[in-house]
Amino acid sequence: MSAFPAVDPIPLPAPVWLFKLLHIVTLTLHFCAVELLLGGLLVATCLCFFGGLRGGAPLLRLNAAASLTRRLPIVMTYVINLGVPPLLFAQVLYGRAFYTSSVLIGAYWISVILLLMACYWLLYRFDANVARGRSAWWLGLLAVLVAGTIARIYSTTMTLMIRPEVWTAMYSASAMGNYLPPPDPTLTPRWLFMLAGGLVFAGMGMVWLAGRNQIEASVRSYLAGLGGKLAVAAVITQVLVAHFVFHNQPDKVLKGLVASPLYLSAGLTWFAAAGLILLTGVWAGFKKPTTAAAGWLGVTFGFVAVLGWVVFRDGIRDLTLLGNGYDVWQRTIVTNWSVVALFLALFAAGLAMIGWLVWVMLRAKPVSEKVV
Ligand code: HEM
Repeated sequence: MSAFPAVDPIPLPAPVWLFKLLHIVTLTLHFCAVELLLGGLLVATCLCFFGGLRGGAPLLRLNAAASLTRRLPIVMTYVINLGVPPLLFAQVLYGRAFYTSSVLIGAYWISVILLLMACYWLLYRFDANVARGRSAWWLGLLAVLVAGTIARIYSTTMTLMIRPEVWTAMYSASAMGNYLPPPDPTLTPRWLFMLAGGLVFAGMGMVWLAGRNQIEASVRSYLAGLGGKLAVAAVITQVLVAHFVFHNQPDKVLKGLVASPLYLSAGLTWFAAAGLILLTGVWAGFKKPTTAAAGWLGVTFGFVAVLGWVVFRDGIRDLTLLGNGYDVWQRTIVTNWSVVALFLALFAAGLAMIGWLVWVMLRAKPVSEKVV
């Protein structure tokens, strides 16, 4: 008997490829925001910790931390709002697997809502303190722990959904949803891959911040140099962790990934972008560029890297599920084209609106960001 619940009798209202495309685009945007949040938070916390110590250049570090903390609550709004669309598309495509895994660890899954609120509050408290020149590193550390836990819960759910072989035993052991899955060799590397990606993004984000005029010149050159070096260390770590994620996949999945032109090119795209980030990081680490162009270059490579790994990750999921008898492409489809057209028009308008908001924000009259 299949471990997957019976398929919903209501047909899909649009082709699978369209849902997949929308899922990949929106998940890429969600991951970019998540990485900025995780990495930015970790770096700001370290800068505050070392900025609070005597010696070195504590004020410089506190000012650099402030340039990050004041943006983190905004980043969080993007994390949440850009997380909703891929959640909806994932439920449409993988509902039978995804609902099962989230119900099995229901207590942890539902706790994400409370953790999110706690994280948001901590981000505001952290920033308010840093803006007054206080090194509130412990608030940052608490926020890092909460955000890291949310990421861990997401990784656990997304890994459990492709392991139907453990569902029955888990449910028999406890139907309360408070029981975590048995160990999986891919879980920790997968989670660490996201955390390392956070530091890559934080590094490139700091190079981008170095191009902002409202930040003091000495802080800008500090951000560019540190950001470049951080990106180099983080991207090397990420490549090593990716090696573990890849080689811990079952043989069948590995062969499928290599045999598929789409997944292979996605993996290679990520690898090439990682190489370009490495080169940009080395250059920024030494030259400390404070131009907007340098920042945009790093951000573009970061976006391409995430796009590559989102497609590759999708391949890991589809091939693993296929090996367990779940073919995401096998669905009854009755396309309602007028609804699809309306949805796409609204979706494009929504993206254009976000782009416009970002554009307005970037063109706004800069306010000096010196805090101490
Ligand atoms: C601080 C907040 C958050 C963090 C740190 C975070 C982090 C993550 C991480 C690490 C993953 C990848 C898990 C893996 O595959 O290993 C993930 C996936 C995902 N997140 Fe978030 N997330 C956050 C908030 C949200 C919110 C609020 C939503 C939705 C409302 C959301 C929706 C999703 C979805 C839908 C996926 C995976 C989709 C898929 O696999 O198809 N996330 N998130």
